[in-house]
Amino acid sequence: MTIPAPKTFQIKSFGCQMNVYDGERMAELLEGEGMAAAAQPGAADLVVLNTCHIREKAAEKVYSEIGRLKRADGSRPMVAVAGCVAQAEGAEIPRRAPSVDIVVGPQAYHRLPALVADAARGRRGIDTDMPILSKFGALPARRRQGPSAFLTVQEGCDKFCTYCVVPYTRGAEVSRPWDAILDEAKALVEAGAKEVTLLGQNVNAWAEQGRGLDALIRALAELPGLARIRYTTSHPNDMTEGLIRAHAEVDRLMPYLHLPVQSGSDRVLKAMNRSHSTAGYLRILDRVRAARPDVAISGDFIVGFPGETDAEFEETLKIVEAVNYAQAYSFKYSPRPGTPAAGMDGQVPEQVKDERLQRLQALINEQQLAFNRATVGKHTSVLLERAGKKPGQLVGKSPWLQSVHLETSASLGDVVDVQIVSAGPNSLGGAALVRAAA
Ligand code: 5AD
Ligand code: SF4
Repeated sequence: MTIPAPKTFQIKSFGCQMNVYDGERMAELLEGEGMAAAAQPGAADLVVLNTCHIREKAAEKVYSEIGRLKRADGSRPMVAVAGCVAQAEGAEIPRRAPSVDIVVGPQAYHRLPALVADAARGRRGIDTDMPILSKFGALPARRRQGPSAFLTVQEGCDKFCTYCVVPYTRGAEVSRPWDAILDEAKALVEAGAKEVTLLGQNVNAWAEQGRGLDALIRALAELPGLARIRYTTSHPNDMTEGLIRAHAEVDRLMPYLHLPVQSGSDRVLKAMNRSHSTAGYLRILDRVRAARPDVAISGDFIVGFPGETDAEFEETLKIVEAVNYAQAYSFKYSPRPGTPAAGMDGQVPEQVKDERLQRLQALINEQQLAFNRATVGKHTSVLLERAGKKPGQLVGKSPWLQSVHLETSASLGDVVDVQIVSAGPNSLGGAALVRAAA
């Protein structure tokens, strides 16, 4: 079946923040070709599934998404599979799902317009090359932006944790050039961004000619109009003294650090090839907290890694207790095809993983609620990002990345002074403060 050249598109992004960023850039690219976002998602001529491969049944979910794209009258949109499942599965995708017209990996999506043109001529395109930097060079400048923007500064990973597909789907660690990042940040601010979150699978490994992420953050902090800077995700081994000092010295760098430890057991960390110990991780957090006492710590955990014993899982609960997280993500280990851990002995039964996950999440939720409650009464700033459900209500983020709901006559994109008046597990209530005249 040949599908005519699309006029409208829909991009569905799954998974991490980098996929959200990639999705925005693909949208800008397609708009640059004269296409428009479909007014109703179901009506798009082209659907791009921007997929994630990191956990459980990723590929299966993509195939069922593809199946659902068929319309009631039997027709279907042009279908492109992008993202990490595209990279991992490649030509296998159209073999299993013949209605897929385009397969494009995360480092090749700048070629999407050419692939769409080919597909409209009946030629299926598969592009899973990995020319990371040429992608950025070929993308159009940023045009639209809400108050908070993502900006990819680093991509890929050389760490090869034994459970993880990222080094295979996103490729080797690459840092984008300094000038390209500053130019993109300026364009984002001009387009309305007040906050930029620097993204990378190992964002704190960003480096150029001896300069590290801390130097980049200090340069961005000089940009007029940019009120807030964040970065994610970091690896403990790349947490340099300079970056820790930036947390003490750069006001615009928000007091929040996402630093995954994955497990509280040194034996498991070794089997994961994490190349840091629990003691080393805790020492880093001590230094970060000394630099910025109010910093909110967040992390990632995997339960049920192959060979993880009950006692080793208890050690994970212990490190969570020792850290006291403001927020954390936890996952059941899922064997990813092609990764070393998938073939390891001692795979943990599903039911055991479920129980461990529940216990871990209960502890994390307790800590998150306690962290939120501790902010009640505080005066702080909130960047207003979207409309709330109630009339006159806006929702924004505190410096510690908590959602704050408040009634205010201020506008989206404003940074307002707020007193926190209530706290739930996932959000806070705030009251706008009127700044006293100087
Ligand atoms: N199984 C479960 N969780 C995983 N993660 C990465 N790979 C796997 C896997 N195979 C988690 C890690 C990582 C987060 C992004 O996803 O905790 O930090
Ligand atoms: Fe995956 Fe480990 Fe690299 Fe993070 S550091 S992307 S978990 S291999």
